[in-house]
Amino acid sequence: MAAAKTILRSLAGETLPTPPIWMMRQAGRYLPEYKATRAQAGDFLSLCYNPELAAEVTLQPIRRYGFDAAILFADILLLPQALGADLWFVTGEGPRLSTITTQADFDKLKPVGEIDAVLNPIYETVRILRQELPQETTLIGFAGAPWTVATYMIAGRGTPDQAPAHALKDENRELFEALLARITQGTIEYLSKQIEAGVEVVKIFDSWAGSLKGADFQKYALEPAREITAAIKARHPDTPVIGFPREAGDGYIGFAKATGVDCVALDNSISADWAAANVQVDGCVQGNLASSHMVTGGQALIDETRAIVKAFSGGPHIFNLGHGITPDADPDNVQRMIDAVRGQ
Ligand code: CP3
Repeated sequence: MAAAKTILRSLAGETLPTPPIWMMRQAGRYLPEYKATRAQAGDFLSLCYNPELAAEVTLQPIRRYGFDAAILFADILLLPQALGADLWFVTGEGPRLSTITTQADFDKLKPVGEIDAVLNPIYETVRILRQELPQETTLIGFAGAPWTVATYMIAGRGTPDQAPAHALKDENRELFEALLARITQGTIEYLSKQIEAGVEVVKIFDSWAGSLKGADFQKYALEPAREITAAIKARHPDTPVIGFPREAGDGYIGFAKATGVDCVALDNSISADWAAANVQVDGCVQGNLASSHMVTGGQALIDETRAIVKAFSGGPHIFNLGHGITPDADPDNVQRMIDAVRGQ
């Protein structure tokens, strides 16, 4: 039998001499081959729902760079769409959704039992990928965390400060919590189906966790992550879970213990040395090079990559960026980062 895949070893708590590496948004607009396939599909959502082409763009960064993991090509906003929200993308601006601000809006949402009618093509992408990925490459599935998904469903778009979601939370907590509960149940179902189709790890993206403070962080970031992780582990005890409470700051401390996740993904607003002392003490961490280095390159990219590898060398670590790579990144800088991690 082949040795366990490197990412699975890190997630199991092993300290490896060289950290495995993958990259958030590794299939994306910085790659010419991605743009070509996206054009072939027509638009972003058509690409997400076309299993052959979604598998193709997932494989592109694996072919080009040999990353240790592939991440399923999809989006966190497909679940709201499967729950009945309208979803479209405005080129150059980002996602738009029908808004949820009243009980009547909420009542129009579909029950969790109906999401697979929309999401079946995503599971088909997973099955294709398990056939086509190199045997050493780990396949990661994902979903948005309930709070982050709710911020888009409430506002109908991305917002700098998540103000509409905070307003609903403060003005109609019952409705806000009902929405979070629906998303939480949908997420459990969606991730379980991804696992049954073949993903080996799941990651929960809480991109806006940093705007939840104090008791709100406990109730709306920690608690849903704990509930989803517990439900996944009850159904699929061997599937590791990565949590990403982006910009949680001190909220990273104890996050793994409080939620049961196997690995905490770190953004780059915290230093690797601080995270090694305060977060990695509880287990595997992932991160956290600033994605701006993929644009600027140079010696700073090499130095910072090496410093992060060194800071986390005393425990389990998966190398990654602190957030997704941006469309203006230079693909050659990605190779330079990988070479610096692997010591070439
Ligand atoms: O990482 C990967 O390569 C896997 C695929 C993936 C995408 N989105 C593809 C995508 C993943 C894991 C996501 C997660 C996601 N989607 C998050 C959480 C992570 C984060 O970035 O904080 C969020 C908040 C979304 C919602 C979303 N999707 C936004 C706000 C946007 C517009 C901004 C942008 O980058 O264009 C998207 C679009 C999107 N999702 C693209 C990709 C490759 C770009 C679409 C395009 O090709 O035009």
